Amino acid sequence: MSARQEMLALVERWDRQQEGYIKQRDERFNVMFDILAHVFGDRFTVVDAACGPGSLTRRLLDRFPAAKVVAIDADVMLLDLARASLADYGDRVHVVEADLADPSWAERARDAAETLGGRPPVALVSTTALHWLSPGGLAEFYGAAGALLANGGVVMNGDHMRFDARWPTLASAAAAWRDRMLKEAVDAGEDDWEAWWRRVADIPALSELKTRRDAFFASRPAKRPTSNVDCSVDFHVAALRHAGFVEVGTAWQAFDNYIVFGRRPE
Ligand SMILES: C[S@@+](CC[C@H](N)C(=O)[O-])C[C@H]1O[C@@H](n2cnc3c(N)ncnc32)[C@H](O)[C@@H]1O
Repeated sequence: MSARQEMLALVERWDRQQEGYIKQRDERFNVMFDILAHVFGDRFTVVDAACGPGSLTRRLLDRFPAAKVVAIDADVMLLDLARASLADYGDRVHVVEADLADPSWAERARDAAETLGGRPPVALVSTTALHWLSPGGLAEFYGAAGALLANGGVVMNGDHMRFDARWPTLASAAAAWRDRMLKEAVDAGEDDWEAWWRRVADIPALSELKTRRDAFFASRPAKRPTSNVDCSVDFHVAALRHAGFVEVGTAWQAFDNYIVFGRRPE
């Protein structure tokens, strides 16, 4: 297998790995795309925040052949996989390395969108990623997203937003659902998160980038043990309203996995 084929195989395995955590992952992508199509038609520029190896970006570019995407992440190794996976889309995609915990990411995204089409993006989408931000960081992120988007633009964040101590029954039912989902995937031969990263370590062509991304994440404050439960869905809704978004609410839900939605006033 060539290095490129190995990378594409790894991206394929990433998708299966992520589906172990949210089996409805493609349904969640498609709800976002249906909303984009309904509001903006088929010609627009979108930011994929924390794009990883480009799963959402690739699906979006396939579904909307006139659309463009700014794909942002802080992980240089995942971005290398994204570049390999998105190579065939040419100048419809711009891949940007930036830390979403540093508000300057929005300036980088604006510049990249200008390079792509000269217009501000109409949407910011993100999946399975913003739980990495602290509650304060998330509020700041939504504020920066609001300033970045065109008037009438939308933000859609698909992620797990855990039931907290107010909902003990739902929290335990959702945990059992997640455990079952992951077990089914692993029993069927798919990687979990740790197994996927062990696989990366076996590919010499990625070792330098893996060392760099490990150093980056090690240099940041450790991921909080509570990061998965810090921000319930109503925190996201309140943070979006605080950032000036209107029509804020949930567009989709499976147990504790949601798409939260907000729109910039016209
Ligand atoms: C579970 S992955 C999801 C990737 C992709 N959105 C998907 O759905 O497949 C979480 C992503 O968040 C990115 N991430 C975490 N913290 C970040 C930060 N501070 N800035 C930018 N990206 C970050 C990681 O590098 C990783 O790509």
